[in-house]
Amino acid sequence: MNFSLTFFLTKQNPSHKLHSLNFLFTLFPKSFMTTPTSEHEDDECICSDTNDLSLLEQPLSSKNSPSCTLSKDLYIERAWAHWKKLGQPKFIVAPMVDNSELPFRMLCRKYGAQAAYTPMLHSRLFLENEKQRNMEFTTCKEDRPLFVQFCANDPDILLEAAKLVEQHCDYVDINLGCPQRIARRGNYGAFLMDNLPVVRSLVQSLADNLHVPVSCKIRIFPDMQDTIKYARMLEDAGCSLLAVHGRTRDEKDGKKFRADWNAIKDVKAALRIPVLANGNIRHMDDVLSCLEETGVDGVLSAEPLLENPALFAGFRTAEWVDKEEEGIEGDLLDQADLLVEYLKLCERYPVPWRMIRCHVHKLLGDWFKIHPEVREDLNKQSKLTFEFLYDIVKRLRELGTRIPLYAKSSHAAFSPKGFTNQAVHEF
Ligand SMILES: Cc1cc2nc3c(=O)[nH]c(=O)nc-3n(C[C@H](O)[C@H](O)[C@H](O)COP(=O)(O)O)c2cc1C
Repeated sequence: MNFSLTFFLTKQNPSHKLHSLNFLFTLFPKSFMTTPTSEHEDDECICSDTNDLSLLEQPLSSKNSPSCTLSKDLYIERAWAHWKKLGQPKFIVAPMVDNSELPFRMLCRKYGAQAAYTPMLHSRLFLENEKQRNMEFTTCKEDRPLFVQFCANDPDILLEAAKLVEQHCDYVDINLGCPQRIARRGNYGAFLMDNLPVVRSLVQSLADNLHVPVSCKIRIFPDMQDTIKYARMLEDAGCSLLAVHGRTRDEKDGKKFRADWNAIKDVKAALRIPVLANGNIRHMDDVLSCLEETGVDGVLSAEPLLENPALFAGFRTAEWVDKEEEGIEGDLLDQADLLVEYLKLCERYPVPWRMIRCHVHKLLGDWFKIHPEVREDLNKQSKLTFEFLYDIVKRLRELGTRIPLYAKSSHAAFSPKGFTNQAVHEF
């Protein structure tokens, strides 16, 4: 990155330049030090039962880890310089397996999202299987800023997989939050909270060897102090941005357990790198409250975006609207409009049909409740075509169905790039 050297040197006493340069190269042999081309264009291991929180107390030993004060200051400056260069995105599409794929990301970007994560990619399968790689990871010039997320438990495999994508993204992200059974079987995601030496080695391996920064997405521990120590360990290992899902590994059901914004606030206060919040976001008022209450640098949304990809542009589903409120408009946009836009993006950026099917069900779920026969026809269709899907929308419209998305008229504004949220841009 061009900025890294000049930025660093201008901050230093000239007599220290040489020393500083050597120091910087030792610190970041690759990370942040070169221009990325990005601007152009069944695992069987059973998870370890060691709850090795003592690691959190240990000093760091990696040659490139920011373990002394000066190195840490530099590394924090780097982390912020990168974040600022990306425009400090606040509204971010969270990683979703089979759901945050390129056309969906592009749709959300059109409607206010300022950055996005890919779905989690399995580092070993991604590395070994070229066909899977080409199917599961696609991107385009406009798909930035982009976090490419991997699950992993082997630093060498993760690094090799990450090298294949680093030119196409702004962060390589490590999934440390997946609580599902498949993650327990594969010993990745939130189950690495039981094996912190592995977590640290994953982060260090990327931080020491990639050209782009490493980010992590975590869940919280039941004990707040453990969460803070965990987050600090990640920062010390070389993590440049941390996304915190404010639920524990056992709080799988997002509808049953509210995310703990206080825990996120405490992590933000304890760290020096950018921190993002995840959980409890239903609409834009929640986004603004979350930013204010936790002090984080940005907010991720996952499941609510599936029903309402225009959430970050100020639109909300009927569930979250007081229709008596003055200035609420329901004639600007609906989910069928968004599905048609999504399908057009899929024609342009092909993805597996299973992903498209997921989005049709999520976007038209409420419409199908009114006309279940249309859903049945969709379910019977084992091989989908775009023609068939456009026809589903046409049939629903001809049946007189319309479930609008609502926006405060003073908030949503259309620009040639799409809807933007005026209130939010003033934030
Ligand atoms: C369909 C779906 C797929 C998900 N896949 C991933 C994933 O690949 N990686 C990840 O870190 N989290 C994944 N998550 C979790 C979300 O990123 C997010 O942490 C969680 O849903 C809470 O955010 P929300 O309340 O906005 O949905 C997924 C969630 C959903 C609903």
